[in-house]
Amino acid sequence: MSALSLSCRVCGTEHPLEALGSCSRCFGPLDPAYDLERVRVSFTPERLAGGPPSIWRYADLLPVEAPDEPRLAPGYTPLVPAPRLAKAIGLRDLWLKLDTANPTHSFKDRPVAVAARKAQELGLDTLSCSSTGNLAGAVAARAAAEGLEAAVFVPADLEHEKLAAAAAYGPRLYAVDGHYDHCSRLSVELSFELPWGFVNVNLRSYYAEGSKTLAYEVVEQLGWRTPDVIAIPIASGALFHKVGQGLSELRSLGLGEGPAPRLVGAQAEGCQPVATAFREQKPVQPVRPDSIARSLAIGSPADGDFAVSTARETGGAIHAVPEDEVGENMALLARTTGVFGETAAGVTLGALRAAVAAGEVARDDRVVLLVTGDGLKTLGPVSFTYVPTPIAADADAFLDDVLAAG
Ligand SMILES: Cc1ncc(COP(=O)(O)O)c(C=O)c1O
Ligand SMILES: [Zn+2]
Repeated sequence: MSALSLSCRVCGTEHPLEALGSCSRCFGPLDPAYDLERVRVSFTPERLAGGPPSIWRYADLLPVEAPDEPRLAPGYTPLVPAPRLAKAIGLRDLWLKLDTANPTHSFKDRPVAVAARKAQELGLDTLSCSSTGNLAGAVAARAAAEGLEAAVFVPADLEHEKLAAAAAYGPRLYAVDGHYDHCSRLSVELSFELPWGFVNVNLRSYYAEGSKTLAYEVVEQLGWRTPDVIAIPIASGALFHKVGQGLSELRSLGLGEGPAPRLVGAQAEGCQPVATAFREQKPVQPVRPDSIARSLAIGSPADGDFAVSTARETGGAIHAVPEDEVGENMALLARTTGVFGETAAGVTLGALRAAVAAGEVARDDRVVLLVTGDGLKTLGPVSFTYVPTPIAADADAFLDDVLAAG
C-alpha cells in the first residue's frame, strides 16, 4: 500500500492511518498522503488496463489494501455519449457517467467500499453513517456483503423508496426527527461513545478518497484524455472536492492529455449554501434545507469551502437550480438518453444548462455529467410525466379511434 499517513488539509500536520475524523491540532479535515514515487511506477495506463473492472484497479491511490475477495465491487461504471441531450442543451460532445450502475445504484458505493475496508482492517464490526438516503443503502448493502453489522441514521421524512431500499439489507435503521444536519451531529456525538466505524465521521478520510475514482475512470475511459468540463452535484462538497483532487493527482503523475477540466458544481435552490458562497465570494454559511433534491439537502456542508476553492481553482462555477426545474431536467435526461437519474442528476443537468447559458461552457467543449443516483429512488418529481391513455383491449378500436385521434 502506498498511503503513508493522514495529512491535515489546513495545517499540514501528519497523523497515523487510524480512525481519526479530523486534525487533533486544528480540527481540519485529513487527507491520506501517498508515496508518489512508488505510485508513479505502478499507476500507469498499461498496468491499470490489466486491473479489475472496479475501483480496486486504482488501489495504489486508495488508503487501504484492495480486498482479496472484492464482493460487489463498485466502480468502472459506463461512460456513454449523449448526443440528443447534447443537442437539446446547445452542446456537441456530452457524456454521461452512469454511477447508477453501482450495486446500490449510487456513487456512494465507492466511498463506502473504501471505508468498509478500513473498518475491517481496524477490526470494527459495525458500519454506521448519517445519510441523506443513498449512503444509508450503500452502508447497509456493504455490511450485508461483508457480514458486518450496520446502523444508519436518516431524516425520518426521506423519500419512502430510499428508506425501503436501505431497509431491505437489514441494517438497524434510525429515523431521526430532524433534517440531515441533526443526523450528522448525532452521529458525531455517538462516534465518541461507540466502537463503530462511522463512514463519514471517524472513517471520513478513507471514505472520501473513494470518490476520487470517478475522476480516474472518466479520464481512463476517454483514452487518457481529460474532458473540458465535469458537472458534479454538491451536498457536503466531498465528491466535488475529491474529483478535483483526483484530477490533480493524475496531473502530477503526468497522466491525462488535454486541458485541466473546469468543475461545474450543482445545488438546488432550496439548499444552496455552497452555490451562495461561490456567488457572493464569502465563506459558507449554514442554511435550513427545504429542497426536493433530498440527497443534496445538507445545510451545513463539511467540505463546502473546499468545494468553492475547487470551483475557483479549476476555472469552474457552482450554480443553484430552481426547485421546479429539477423534475423537468430528470425527464429531459430520461427521454433524450434512456437514463433515469435521481433528483441529484436533475440538479446537475440544470446547473450545466445554467453554465452553458452563462457562457462558462462552450458548444464545442467536451463535457462529462455525473449521474450519481437512480431515478427509481426519487419518483415524485417526474410523476407529471405519467399521463397514460386508458384504452380497451381492442385492436380495431385502437387503430381506428385511438391512433386516428393522434
Ligand atoms: C446521488 C447523490 N449525488 C451527490 C451527492 C453529493 O455528495 P457529497 O455529499 O459528497 O457532496 C449525494 C450525497 O448524498 C448523493 O446522494
Ligand atoms: Zn490541522
